[in-house]
Amino acid sequence: MSDKFWSNEAKKLDWFKEWDKVSSGEKPYVKWFVGGELNASYQCVDRHVKNGLGEKIALYWESESGESQSFTYNDLYIHVNKLASGLKNLGVKKGDVVVLYMPMIPQAIFSILAVARIGAIHNVVFSAFSYKSLKDRIIDTNAKFIITADFVLRRGKYTDLKFIVDLAAHETSIEKVILIKRTDKPVAIDNKKDILYEDLISKSEGYCEPEHMESSDPLFILYTSGTTGKPKGIVHSTGGYLTYVNSTFESAFGKVKDEIYWCTADIGWVTGHSYVVYAPLMSGTTMILHEGAPDYPDPSTWWKIIQKYKVSVFYTSPTAIRMLIKLGQEWLSGFDLSSLRVLGSVGEAINPDVWQWFFEHVGNKKCPIIDTWWQTETGGFMISPKREYGIEKLKPGSATFPLNIIDAQIVDEHGLPLPDGYKGYLVIKNCWPGLTLGIWGDNKRYEETYWSKFKDCYYAGDFAIKDKDGYFWILGRSDETLNIAGHRIGTAEIENAVIKNHMVAEAAVAAVPDKIKGQDFALFVVLKTQSENTDIIKTEIINTLKIEIGALAKPGKIYFVDSLPKTRSGKIIRRVLSNLLQKQDIGDLSTLENISAIENIKSVIR
Ligand code: WT7
Repeated sequence: MSDKFWSNEAKKLDWFKEWDKVSSGEKPYVKWFVGGELNASYQCVDRHVKNGLGEKIALYWESESGESQSFTYNDLYIHVNKLASGLKNLGVKKGDVVVLYMPMIPQAIFSILAVARIGAIHNVVFSAFSYKSLKDRIIDTNAKFIITADFVLRRGKYTDLKFIVDLAAHETSIEKVILIKRTDKPVAIDNKKDILYEDLISKSEGYCEPEHMESSDPLFILYTSGTTGKPKGIVHSTGGYLTYVNSTFESAFGKVKDEIYWCTADIGWVTGHSYVVYAPLMSGTTMILHEGAPDYPDPSTWWKIIQKYKVSVFYTSPTAIRMLIKLGQEWLSGFDLSSLRVLGSVGEAINPDVWQWFFEHVGNKKCPIIDTWWQTETGGFMISPKREYGIEKLKPGSATFPLNIIDAQIVDEHGLPLPDGYKGYLVIKNCWPGLTLGIWGDNKRYEETYWSKFKDCYYAGDFAIKDKDGYFWILGRSDETLNIAGHRIGTAEIENAVIKNHMVAEAAVAAVPDKIKGQDFALFVVLKTQSENTDIIKTEIINTLKIEIGALAKPGKIYFVDSLPKTRSGKIIRRVLSNLLQKQDIGDLSTLENISAIENIKSVIR
């Protein structure tokens, strides 16, 4: 049954060689479209050019700098081929990892597709991640090549990316830095290591044969946070992944080929991979790529773009909508948003009142909101309304039902199915083509993290409820990860960074609800010795977090306490800290080893 379905979905792509078998192997290592051969850049570009869509606009780029550009599928073809040839000339080979540390500029898309064209594996690192995060990822993949730009622009501020790359490259395996000069500002150039992007493509051939990739060959690695301090390199396949994102895109948004599509995610996240680059370009749509924030230079930025390009499908996040609500709905007035046909939401559950606002003020009560639940690991949408549901079938705040042939269930601690209305763990009982191939270089961790908590099930790490009508309601993470503004970040990552401070003995992260970001965190810190200079230590900690992780990891508050609440086996109970901060009942403390800690923490919070 499922093989037949997926075989039909896979046939929507252009394969160089058809597969011998739709699926083979055992969970969690099921292989899809075995023996089939294809190329991701061919799907996104060549195919459309061959089918007469060459003159169609593939991409409109809008930057907060005021620049805007457009590229047809022919243009894309030229750029991708030139860069792919250039990379090959530099020595990049099939299977090599190429790191991309880039702003939201058109070259980011050319780079992703060029790397895929020659059978190399892209690893995009979010451009707001710090030098240390970049370095750790380079070390994990052993990459020799990195593509970057001189500066990234955000809310009027230019950050020197090249400087960060130089720091990281100096301490890692990086041999070549391909540099896009987007400004006239000076940056340091090392003639041995650095190659200007323009120089590279000006000397390269106009056509580069797309590598024939076996369906299970890796297409990319993308790091995501987990329960330990070390981010996991989630690996995605070529054939299974592309089939899955293509299929889910159409199921959720309908046929967008003749429309204008806009997903606001950054290419540094999985949404940026699946639904900014691959699915839209495979579909042959015209998309918007926006460099900038929704509230810069003012909070009407997004509405201006929707009006200017007559966007039909607009896919964004609850955290951004909450920010725009707070800034006032007067920023919407006077804009013609009537081109919108469907809205989308991703990153966390969308609060019902935020849903209503989005529905009424942006969608003018005529656009369904497609709330898509999925994860870096799942490749594409898992639980999501289908376009054909229309508005009537939606319940604000619920991602509705699992997609075709996704067997999602809510189970208890022992993996037994729970009755409707009971909160439990969200698991997936079957396999699907978009599922990750595993964690880069660490199968053991992959099996332990996702496949060992419940026998034979994929453990998603989320709590959820299924209501009596079968609707799924996602209730947040069940593991030690936070979701800040739709971005996953591990408590252990933060704590490990904090204890690098020589004054800090122990640290714990406590999650707290936040009106805009959804979740925020406070830090509880135990010092090695009493100090008069806690303000200095606070500043140090904030700086360390910025250096070790990036701007995302900024604590709302830092508290210095005598000790942390722990179990008898020494495990920190972060839940108690969160409850204390929110003045909630802290429940049963019988497992607590050091009840005395609580009084001190309470008084510090006060
Ligand atoms: C986690 C995955 C999927 C792309 C963006 C984040 C949460 C994501 C929803 C949603 C409720 C959601 C979950 C999930 N999440 N979308 N529509 N409703 N929760 O990808 O960084 O891999 O994080 O984000 O907790 O497990 P990610």
